[in-house]
Amino acid sequence: DDLVTRMKNIEMIELGRHRIRPWYFAPYPQEMVNLACIYICEFCLKYRKTKKCLERHLIKCKLKHPPGNEIYRKGSISFFEIDGRKNKCYAQNLCLLAKLFLDHKTLYYDTDPFLFYVMTEFDSRGFHIVGYFSKEKESTEDYNVACILTLPPYQRKGYGTLLIEFSYELSKFEGKTGSPEKPLSDLGLLSYRSYWAQTILEILINIKPVGDNEKPIITINEICELTSIKKEDVISTLQNLNLINYYKGQYIVSVNQETIQQHEKAMEKKLLRIDPKCLHWTPKD
Ligand code: COA
Ligand code: NA
Repeated sequence: DDLVTRMKNIEMIELGRHRIRPWYFAPYPQEMVNLACIYICEFCLKYRKTKKCLERHLIKCKLKHPPGNEIYRKGSISFFEIDGRKNKCYAQNLCLLAKLFLDHKTLYYDTDPFLFYVMTEFDSRGFHIVGYFSKEKESTEDYNVACILTLPPYQRKGYGTLLIEFSYELSKFEGKTGSPEKPLSDLGLLSYRSYWAQTILEILINIKPVGDNEKPIITINEICELTSIKKEDVISTLQNLNLINYYKGQYIVSVNQETIQQHEKAMEKKLLRIDPKCLHWTPKD
């Protein structure tokens, strides 16, 4: 809690071609604070006090992508899976960087129990970090995301939705439902609500009626199985969308024309999608 209440201590970071103003405190070492800017290697995430120091580092640092395995690639978007035990230094530096934009999460110095999924965008200079999420290797609460972040220069372009979609694709591969760790930030909640609504509506719109005059029928459990979204999140989403009613002892789900049109409009804007065929990954157990 001490960390949460502490004052913002980093004025500016330079990360690749971006200069970013942090939002919150992050426990960088004492010698790094109260500088006009700190310089972070965009590939290994090591930090330096001056531009010169970083330039010296870049001569030695041969990385052009995050460490770990590239488990997804489609177009210029890739995902790398990083084990917090095997790549401790990277994982800790990623957590430090993320803390600059997260106010309510406790920082995990012990990265061993986590996997990190870093999303990058490729160009001729390398695989540039856009955002990431972390995930406990084993979660007793069915969490499929611990922390999730889109770096500010990339926010509000659909990358957060892509990270969320990817986290549910992993859960589908695991054959489980999952949910993000609580509490979520305001921005996190907005993004998840939007993802849940779009994903569930897409399913409701596409189910076919069983008989000629019959309404399409789908159960909450079937929605969970198709999406890997946890039951309570499916129910709260249906309630928020006003699509669920309790009638004669059971839940009835029905979609009206207006909701369908709103959804289709929202989907037109959505250009980036995760393609499960491009995910090369098997869950470890
Ligand atoms: N104001 C209003 N709505 C916002 C918003 C903002 N500042 N940021 C995102 N949203 C909404 C968008 O409207 C979008 O909904 P839509 O698809 O219906 O339009 C949805 O949230 C997702 O937007 P998207 O562009 O895909 O997300 P993003 O790349 O901006 O990333 C977060 C979303 C939460 C990852 C990002 O805001 C972030 O990293 N925040 C700081 C870290 C954090 O709070 N993480 C969550 C808690 S662990
Ligand atoms: Na995160």
